[in-house]
Amino acid sequence: MNGALPKGRQLFQKIRGDFIGLNTQYRVVSGETSTRVYLDSTATTLMMKVAHDVMEDFYKHYANTHSVLHFGAKISTKEYAWAHRRILAFMKADPEVYTCFFTGSGTTAGMNRLARVLRDIRPDKNVAVVSIMEHHSNDLPHRKHMKEVDHIPLNSRDGKLGCVCLESLEKTLQKKEGRVNYVAMTGVSNVTGIVNPINEAAEVAHRYGALFIVDGAQLAAHVPVTMSVPDNPEQNIDALVFSGHKTYVPGSPGAVIVRKDLMEQIEPEEVGGGMVEDVFVDRYVVKEAFPDREEAGTPNIPGAVGLAAAVDVLDRISMELLRDEETQLINSALDQLMKIEDVVIYGETDTELCDRVASISFNITGLDHGLVAAALNDYFNVAVRNDCFCAHPYVKEMIMDDLLDYVELVDMEDIEQVYQLKRGMVRASFALYSTEEDVAALILAVKDIASRKDYYQSQYGVDSGENYVHKSFCFDHTQMFSVEDSISVLVS
Ligand SMILES: Cc1ncc(COP(=O)(O)O)c(C=O)c1O
Repeated sequence: MNGALPKGRQLFQKIRGDFIGLNTQYRVVSGETSTRVYLDSTATTLMMKVAHDVMEDFYKHYANTHSVLHFGAKISTKEYAWAHRRILAFMKADPEVYTCFFTGSGTTAGMNRLARVLRDIRPDKNVAVVSIMEHHSNDLPHRKHMKEVDHIPLNSRDGKLGCVCLESLEKTLQKKEGRVNYVAMTGVSNVTGIVNPINEAAEVAHRYGALFIVDGAQLAAHVPVTMSVPDNPEQNIDALVFSGHKTYVPGSPGAVIVRKDLMEQIEPEEVGGGMVEDVFVDRYVVKEAFPDREEAGTPNIPGAVGLAAAVDVLDRISMELLRDEETQLINSALDQLMKIEDVVIYGETDTELCDRVASISFNITGLDHGLVAAALNDYFNVAVRNDCFCAHPYVKEMIMDDLLDYVELVDMEDIEQVYQLKRGMVRASFALYSTEEDVAALILAVKDIASRKDYYQSQYGVDSGENYVHKSFCFDHTQMFSVEDSISVLVS
């Protein structure tokens, strides 16, 4: 039966259940132990077992790179180089034009790096434009490193709710008259999962002499990306950054894919071993070759190899297939959530009008998001995230928008007060291992919580850290796992 399926789909079905952590069990309030439903993939994805196994195989040969002399060093050097090439191919970035290098801490490190480089190579253009939708990691680096940051607003309330307004982008670029260094935009919102049309937005930015850089943290694992568009180079993405830990390989580095001609205009931001040709007491000569010149010090070699292995698997399945599968799952979750009384979903829910993947954020009216997330975990073993997801301006806009729709408040102070009460959302997020069964578990739980608000409210208190704590149920994490216990077992 399986043999009749196309290869990509066969692989999808094989890989889907093979992620570390899918079978993890915890005991819940009822005293029963059940399998966790992991709906927190936007924060970090579970680890693909294939990538884990590739890394384990690689450890047998692991040595430092930058040498091809002894056998292990040769394997490490060659496979680390392959990892760079593989990621360029995954992003459909022409290797003649782009380089890929790995950074320390996910997307955040790469975004800070790019902001500093672009500021320094184009000092006369001192404005960065971002959208109001951005994660702080694609906002604060530009505020810190650039002279001025403009935030593009969301579409009008009658339009695509929660989407970035591309007309406003164009107007901002016109208004700034050639002073915009770059536009930095997320590919996918980490709050609503709304997908931005990055290639179209790049064309707009390029029309006004601005570069276009993409925060790919939520894009890489969910949507096919084309950085080099041969038919229309105006739509090329100049740089893109993404996080390994959101692409099925925890512990792997962040990756930057960027035009080489931009990076070669100045000395690399970071200096040290590995990026120099020669060093004298009074001077040093930086390597010309990419990516070496951008990777000072010993990189996270196994992490990079693991990440490249994961994206290789994604490509073997096909990113188009994965995006379609996820759209179906999101549609199903949206449809079912919308039918539950008192559930408010943020962002346009018509995915024909507005592409969505990965995340759905919502509230249950009358209940704090912290309480809902705690009850989902403690009673139903459904792991979600709550609060503002490091995207405070966007969350605030979306909540305000909702309040203006549903609450007859005219006094700004009243609005602020209600807003403070509701500040935050619950986010359920999905990845390639998420299934209809996971959605069903979420829906069952949300229905129950929404229909028995008083009961759930009576079960919780709030601690000094403003966390909802169950009055009688206690989860002692050390009974499940502690590093010290794990060591003791391994060395006994
Ligand atoms: C859209 C977006 N950008 C940037 C980041 C920051 O990623 P990292 O923590 O890997 O640096 C995140 C993390 O949640 C994100 O969702």
